[in-house]
Amino acid sequence: MAESMKGMHRTHRCAELSEKNVGETVTVMGWVAKNRNKGGIIFVDLRDRSGILQIIFEGKDIDAEGFAKAEKLRSEFVIAVTGVVTLREGAINEKLATGKIEIRANDIRILSESETPPFPIEADSKTKEELRLKYRYLDLRRPDIQSNLIMRSKVATLTRQFLADEGFLEIETPILNKSTPEGARDYLVPSRVHPGTFYALPQSPQLFKQLLMVSGYDRYFQIAKCFRDEDLRADRQPEFTQIDMELSFVDVDDVIEVNERLLQKMFKETIGVEVSLPIPRMTYAEAMERFGSDKPDTRFGMELCNVTDVVRDCGFGVFTSAIENGGSVRGINAKGQGGMPRKKIDALTSFAKDFGAKGLAYIQMQEDGNVKSSFSKFLTEEKLNELIKAMDGENGDLLLFAADRDKVVFDVLGNLRLELARQLDLLDKDTYNFLWVTEFPLFEWSEEQNRYVAMHHPFTMPMDEDLDMLDTEPGKVRAKAYDIILNGNEIGGGSVRIHQDDIQEKMFEKLGFTKEQAYDRFGFLLNAFKYGVPPHAGLAYGFDRLIMLMAKEDSIREVIAFPKVKDASCLMCECPNTVDAEQLDELKIAVTAEADDDDEETE
Ligand code: AMO
Ligand code: AMP
Repeated sequence: MAESMKGMHRTHRCAELSEKNVGETVTVMGWVAKNRNKGGIIFVDLRDRSGILQIIFEGKDIDAEGFAKAEKLRSEFVIAVTGVVTLREGAINEKLATGKIEIRANDIRILSESETPPFPIEADSKTKEELRLKYRYLDLRRPDIQSNLIMRSKVATLTRQFLADEGFLEIETPILNKSTPEGARDYLVPSRVHPGTFYALPQSPQLFKQLLMVSGYDRYFQIAKCFRDEDLRADRQPEFTQIDMELSFVDVDDVIEVNERLLQKMFKETIGVEVSLPIPRMTYAEAMERFGSDKPDTRFGMELCNVTDVVRDCGFGVFTSAIENGGSVRGINAKGQGGMPRKKIDALTSFAKDFGAKGLAYIQMQEDGNVKSSFSKFLTEEKLNELIKAMDGENGDLLLFAADRDKVVFDVLGNLRLELARQLDLLDKDTYNFLWVTEFPLFEWSEEQNRYVAMHHPFTMPMDEDLDMLDTEPGKVRAKAYDIILNGNEIGGGSVRIHQDDIQEKMFEKLGFTKEQAYDRFGFLLNAFKYGVPPHAGLAYGFDRLIMLMAKEDSIREVIAFPKVKDASCLMCECPNTVDAEQLDELKIAVTAEADDDDEETE
């Protein structure tokens, strides 16, 4: 039966105690992590969020009633213990921060009992993620998740302190909104008061933070919840958190400068990593050319090599026809992988095909100087050697080529490069390589919509030197947009915004909006801009991704207290779910599709 803690006050968290406290009487409270009954003496490992502490129950210290309670303890019981801190009589446990001491208990209360948990509460859990997420409240007791969430809290606090010191104001923006133009699908919330109408949950606070600049707040930040109804991956959740900011009277360099100092502080004070400034910058064009990606992982080389000119007239139809169709031929050199078995190369080929490749041409350079290639019969020996030379190929190397439209070639080789790095174990989690990618294209051509769409969002400022091309060659216009990349992950992005109405109008025109359509969607922003708008720019970090990398985790689910799974459901509270007919009636909503959840009638 659960006892009250009346009259007992916790004096310390478990791992706050050390040799310094020897001789003191203390009271600790927490969960039983382990208990061993050795007859006349009972050992208990007590756990709270700070760590683990060993408690000893023995007849010479505690009365019979207390000892009897200790005998009843099982895993995850919540107890309060008063006792004296002593140096351990038994072996010192080097693994524990409190490994040199123990508490000799003279009083115990069982505050709450526990059923046997469905999985062991321990670090490095082998339990299936599904089970962990179903019982997330137990999973969250595990020390590795606890340290992730503690780190998350610390980074949030540091960010607030830093930005406040830099003159930023923390201002909240609404959750019930008109849709923002970030490009993902919106989550909608029906209005009861205005039947048939909907709010959209914010994909980001973008428009509001720009309005705050119009209102003169100068420097804003918010640790903001964002909602995007898109396909989930390891680094994407339907609701996630941004560290969002906006600044007035600034250009690209000002935003970058303050953010570099923020990153430096975060990494130094949380995980002791020194970020040397300035962080390198690379244009989008260079990133694509060298790494086939707009978020290059620069922890390893294996850069792309453009061999279009070398193979232009080589006689291998796959290469020449790609070039004739306006595409290119590029390759990567997997150093030392010339002996890769055929089966593995075939697997790489099918990996490449997943990214749109029609095939993967290769040259295997054996250690003994022999050369095997999937296309050598089409090439003269001279051409083959020229190609090998262009690729910096040496005995023992594996050269892989893709021929297609540039977009496909970049995507294939950019991803192949990462896949090889994973296979060859080149991705060191202790290395933190930051990179700014700048000068993104302003527009992206959408095959689906048969029109240009904004690569970042419609309020992004074109680069001054490219303004003239807005009418003539919109596809070539570069934007004052920047992403911050860490080890191949986009951890943040932002841009300088348009504050001149003629440029904004032109932008909407290029995006295929009529004036009416633009006003219908963004009228409140466009109207606000008529009343004096300062030049402004901003940036938002994916807070979850940032913490994931700091904590060396592979998924943002490991740094979010209550995450959703791939199909955007919560395994613990079982949402989304159907609602009562009355609730729907009140909202004047009729559901036409049957919910396909198997938790109700069907089972
Ligand atoms: P953007 O859309 O690039 O920019 O988002 C900023 C950062 O948020 C993170 N992110 C996500 N994290 C987890 N799950 C998701 N579904 C998800 N989507 C994005 C990424 C990304 O870099 N308003 C602009 C910023 C600005 O221009 O100031 C914006 O939202 O790390
Ligand atoms: P094939 O003549 O079709 O047998 O192709 C010869 C080699 O070229 C094989 O290794 C194919 O995988 C490869 N290949 C085919 N299409 C492409 C392409 N678009 N880019 C690179 N390699 C290709």
